[in-house]
Amino acid sequence: MPVPDPALVVLVGASGSGKSTWASSRYRAAEVVSSDALREVVGSGEHDLDASADAFALLESVVSARVGRRLTTVVDTLGTDPARRRRWLTAARDAGLPAVAVVLDTPARVCRSRNAARDRPVPARVLTSQLAAVATTTDLLDAEGWDAVLVLTPDDVPAAGPRNTPSSRHPAPAAADATAQLPGVLREEGAGLRGVVLQLSRFPAEGDLLTWLRDMAGAAEEAGLAGIALMDHLIQIPQVGRAWDPIPEPWVTLGALAASTTRLQLGTLVTPVTFRAPGITAKAAATLSALTGGRAFVGVGAGWWEREHTAYGLGFPSARARLDALEHGIETMKALWSPGTKPYAGRRVSLPETTSYPRPVGDLPVIVGGGGDRTLRIAARLGDGCNVPSDDAGLAKVARYLALVAQAGRDPSTVHATVLDLPLVGRDRDDVWSRVERHRGRAPAATFAARHHAGTASEHADRLAALAGLGVTTVFVAPVGLDGPDDVLALAPLAGAFG
Ligand code: UTP
Ligand code: MG
Repeated sequence: MPVPDPALVVLVGASGSGKSTWASSRYRAAEVVSSDALREVVGSGEHDLDASADAFALLESVVSARVGRRLTTVVDTLGTDPARRRRWLTAARDAGLPAVAVVLDTPARVCRSRNAARDRPVPARVLTSQLAAVATTTDLLDAEGWDAVLVLTPDDVPAAGPRNTPSSRHPAPAAADATAQLPGVLREEGAGLRGVVLQLSRFPAEGDLLTWLRDMAGAAEEAGLAGIALMDHLIQIPQVGRAWDPIPEPWVTLGALAASTTRLQLGTLVTPVTFRAPGITAKAAATLSALTGGRAFVGVGAGWWEREHTAYGLGFPSARARLDALEHGIETMKALWSPGTKPYAGRRVSLPETTSYPRPVGDLPVIVGGGGDRTLRIAARLGDGCNVPSDDAGLAKVARYLALVAQAGRDPSTVHATVLDLPLVGRDRDDVWSRVERHRGRAPAATFAARHHAGTASEHADRLAALAGLGVTTVFVAPVGLDGPDDVLALAPLAGAFG
């Protein structure tokens, strides 16, 4: 059964029941607050009972400080003192942190034999009273208001080995390996934009850009990702980096990627209609489609950042005019890509001819970025997909978009319901939290971790797999702190789960 994360986890179990072993198999050392360990800090050793009062005073302040920051806290004590449990539970409630009690239901004889094998065994009668107290406690827990009460038997506690993750245990990244080993040709067939697409938003300030791009693209293909998307901005946006960080022009850069990939879908996320006349974007996208044998897509949006427009001498009209331009732009692109050269006369756009060669190869999906209701309606009527954030509000917009598609008389199974996800991915729990520390800036660690679903690749894989069930066809991922090809290869389990 999964344990929520972050959470307050209160262990209950007699000496030798396996509490510390369970905790260390799943959590980082700093997440576990143990009365034994604190006895050693303030006393002569783990079993220095003279130091108990000092150790518990420290334990209370550690629990209250961590829980107050909404950081996962595993309380490793006998767990049989009802007043302490109530205090911890209240602290978790006050902080809005889920609170779980975990009972180590280990047979008395097992506890006794483990206890006997220790350097300083607990006296037999003490262990007997602990076992009775644990049995009493187990009966009380249900009425105490925990979000979950987990009762574990010795089979649930790994004897040794690598640390598992709190939310679930994963057998092995077998699915990801299998994906990585699939021959490229198999993936070329029909997968299209469906799956996990890497969004590159930060670029190295030093070194050779082309080499870096090729290495990243090679890693993306090896990891089984469906494609690469580039932001279309003239100045690096404050959400990603500093204004003087490099942000190469995307359509030129996509041309370079076209030459160094064979399977990946390539496109922008998203090109503002305010940057280029739509016919010019149509020309660039059709050229990319021709260069890649049909692996192009184009993200379009209304544009939002006034500063880059002003700096580059571009107009930045009202939101309403920009949305009008979005409708106009999509209609223009579709007209230019349609077969033949005949004149086009549509609702908003009239063109005396539609002569545009090279033609796109196969589909050239237009993904409309933005979650405003008019944007979603434009996406549903005129585009081939939407792109919204992957948070709860964004997922509600996916549902809204799919409903609008159906309302427009179109088949929802033919469109691309895409989300943008900003995961923080680490190798293991230690790596995850060191990345949180590195990247959180001034945000509280727990807030930052929650915003980016900080976790291991297999935890993200589970999360993404659930998105597919909500109608999401494509997840654009822009991982926090994506520096090099190794960070891209680490995304293989995500591609395996969602692809
Ligand atoms: P723990 O040291 O994890 O027990 O395991 P505990 O509940 O935290 O005990 P106290 O309250 O601190 O005294 C006790 C012994 O049992 C072994 C551990 O290696 C340790 O030596 N153990 C634990 C197993 O052999 N298998 C298990 O599944 C769990
Ligand atoms: Mg212990």
